[in-house]
Amino acid sequence: MSLKGKHIVLGITGSIAAYKSATLTRLLIKKGAEVQIVITPAGKEFITPVTLSALSGKPVISEFFASGDGTWHSHVELGLWADLMIVAPATASTIGKMANGIADNMLITTYLSMKAPVFVAPAMDLDMYRHISTQRNIGMLRNDGVHIIDPGEGELASHLEGKGRMEEPEKIVAVVEQFLDSPNDLTKKKILITAGPTYERIDPVRFIGNFSSGKMGFALAEECASRGAEVLLITGPTALSLSHPNIRRVDVESAREMYDAAIKTFPEMDAAILSAAVADYRPAQWTDEKIKRREGEEITITLTPNPDIAASLGKIRKPHQLIIGFALETSNEESNAGRKMEKKNFDFIVLNSLQDKGAGFGYDTNKVTILSRKGEKHSFELKTKKEVAKDIIDTAFTTFENSK
Ligand code: CTP
Repeated sequence: MSLKGKHIVLGITGSIAAYKSATLTRLLIKKGAEVQIVITPAGKEFITPVTLSALSGKPVISEFFASGDGTWHSHVELGLWADLMIVAPATASTIGKMANGIADNMLITTYLSMKAPVFVAPAMDLDMYRHISTQRNIGMLRNDGVHIIDPGEGELASHLEGKGRMEEPEKIVAVVEQFLDSPNDLTKKKILITAGPTYERIDPVRFIGNFSSGKMGFALAEECASRGAEVLLITGPTALSLSHPNIRRVDVESAREMYDAAIKTFPEMDAAILSAAVADYRPAQWTDEKIKRREGEEITITLTPNPDIAASLGKIRKPHQLIIGFALETSNEESNAGRKMEKKNFDFIVLNSLQDKGAGFGYDTNKVTILSRKGEKHSFELKTKKEVAKDIIDTAFTTFENSK
């Protein structure tokens, strides 16, 4: 249903798995999509444009110019035409070029011009897939908002067994359909999200900070935006990036800057999700000269409290405004989190677990329990932060809307 009439750019690269692209094209066409294939020069060594154009019903694009008559293929127009781009199979080389913007073929220039969501289905040998460089590039693409369809396990072209097989075409179609069918239930909602750490300056070169990466807040921003919300993401210092048109990003450094940005914008919001790891204290004094080392002498830094952003928003909130807070506790987790929710006037609190391997600061995964003001408790397994974001939004928004 969801693929009917959709414009899909299908990128094909030089991998043995390119034979599966023929099936993928056929499945997409059968579902009613229009498919424009863009193939790399190496891709053509594995599957011919004749087969692909017969299946897609359109000439396959590979070069910047048609050599016969000099017709120029516009990657810019393809970027505007597409509702979705799928790169399947994606080799280590193409993934590396996409991550780093190395635009030396038509497929990469098309990717760089793409306005639509992009899906990538890697295919390679298990050692190449595991290599630190490949993993780094895949991580960069994820951070850039590209959807990675993880490869499956099984026998590879090298006859070795392991992870690296391109996901089956039926599964790729299912993933894409699920994405297109994802609810637009947050359309017109304005959502404020705080994310990342705050840095509190000691002198011009030093600060007090924490290990928050911002990944959970960014995943929440992506989830809300993909469901149609207008997101204001107020983030502390982080290396993360995003590109969703529905997300407005405001970069701040300290808790006081985050407080000012949040207080100013909250009255016009429908909801606030407070995932930032805000420093509770900052140095009472700030020197504009670097503090010098004095041999054998101890130094003391006096700390003064920062404003509590969450509690301040909780005080000025209107009944129609939803507030979701976070808690990270090391003892009596649930009762402490419950008390925090009451004190700060949240509707929901997301309790992060530090007990589980793979959960919390810096990881791509998280394990949470969501407590509601009405006494409900939802516990979830260890999942990717993207999946956790979906669980949080599903739980909080559905319950909140139903209770109105
Ligand atoms: N929070 C905030 N501003 C602060 C401190 C916390 O907005 N100055 C928010 C966090 O983003 C989170 C919630 O309050 O949503 C709870 O944060 P947490 O650090 O667990 O609570 P604290 O109030 O700092 O309590 P403590 O550190 O003593 O557990």
